[in-house]
Amino acid sequence: MLPNRSPQRETMSEVTEAEVLQALRAVQDPDLHKDVVSLGFVKDVKICGPAVKFTLELTTPACPVKDQLKEQARQAVAALDGVETVNVNLTAQVKSSLGPSDLLGDRVRNVIAVTSGKGGVGKSTCAVNLAVALARQGAKVGLLDADVYGPNVPIMMGIEGRPSPGTNQKIAPKEAHGVKTMSIGYMVEDGTPVMWRGPMLHRALEQFLQDVDWGELDYLLVDMPPGTGDAQISLAQLVPMTGAVVVTMPQEVSLTDVRRAIAMCQQVKCEILGVIENMSGEVFGRGGGHKTAEAFGVPLLGEVELDPKIRAGGDRGEPITISDPDTEAGRRFAHIAGQMAAKVATRQIQSLPVLEV
Ligand SMILES: Nc1ncnc2c1ncn2[C@@H]1O[C@H](COP(=O)(O)OP(=O)(O)OP(=O)(O)O)[C@@H](O)[C@H]1O
Ligand SMILES: [Mg+2]
Repeated sequence: MLPNRSPQRETMSEVTEAEVLQALRAVQDPDLHKDVVSLGFVKDVKICGPAVKFTLELTTPACPVKDQLKEQARQAVAALDGVETVNVNLTAQVKSSLGPSDLLGDRVRNVIAVTSGKGGVGKSTCAVNLAVALARQGAKVGLLDADVYGPNVPIMMGIEGRPSPGTNQKIAPKEAHGVKTMSIGYMVEDGTPVMWRGPMLHRALEQFLQDVDWGELDYLLVDMPPGTGDAQISLAQLVPMTGAVVVTMPQEVSLTDVRRAIAMCQQVKCEILGVIENMSGEVFGRGGGHKTAEAFGVPLLGEVELDPKIRAGGDRGEPITISDPDTEAGRRFAHIAGQMAAKVATRQIQSLPVLEV
């Protein structure tokens, strides 16, 4: 029915909620391939004469296309007859992809390991920068340093000192740049070699998960130690995992190292969310990440170039995502964080029964 726009009419007919929802069905989430109404993103539609207000609740505050979705939703409703102003309130609710965990309870929604097939490729650098990038977008983020042999999180996040007691007789995580962290580095003297065997490592990880007052977290990132051994197995045994991100370097032509990392993830039934190519550029070349992703049928989340500023930021405890977010490298990390968050959301949505409304 066409609304009567005749000037003689005293009041123009108000648009209905059904019409607003129908218009919003034209707005598709490009990652989830469904419209925002079917996805249940549209909430609190309020119509007051020619003014329409509603909330668009996305699955992650780091959604790479959030501004685009908001604008499309605004335009779709603004095009309706009888609508003059549209107010879109953008929010996000990260869903849990985990079953309840004995160690973590139900307040940690996603656990993501940052791993690789070999040492020194930039796992810690990526873990730290992704954590900070997610937090900057408004997500609640934790970062667990699972490298008990060579913990780097304290230096890279610029955190010193011992953790203090928290609530519930737990340890309070130490926070910097909007991220809650825990590392064995807070407990040992500088330079003290940590020589632990498997069972002790397992116990340490268990304590970090169970005895730390993580509170509510959208994402708990875990910086894995080099190699594909005890820590990976322990972590997978201790908590349900959302997935792993595999960091590679561009020149990994043989793919052997990555194959090992991916095989380990498969062995412990941990899904690969994607691959990051780190240190690409003139020195090490480009394309290894792409090749790896293609060879293993996993997504390439993005590439980060070799940039002395990234190393310097890590050394002084100011990740580039906080010190220089608008540089190419800062933007790359933010992009990868968004891609990763979108993969987590996709995985979560796809595991739900489809509700046809
Ligand atoms: N994109 C980059 N550009 C410049 N330097 C980088 C980059 N990524 C990492 N680095 C530097 O390379 C070194 C190794 O990185 P990092 O410690 O993150 O690797 P890792 O995989 O965690 O190592 P390990 O296996 O020992 O835990 C660090 O000095 C870091 O600052
Ligand atoms: Mg490391």
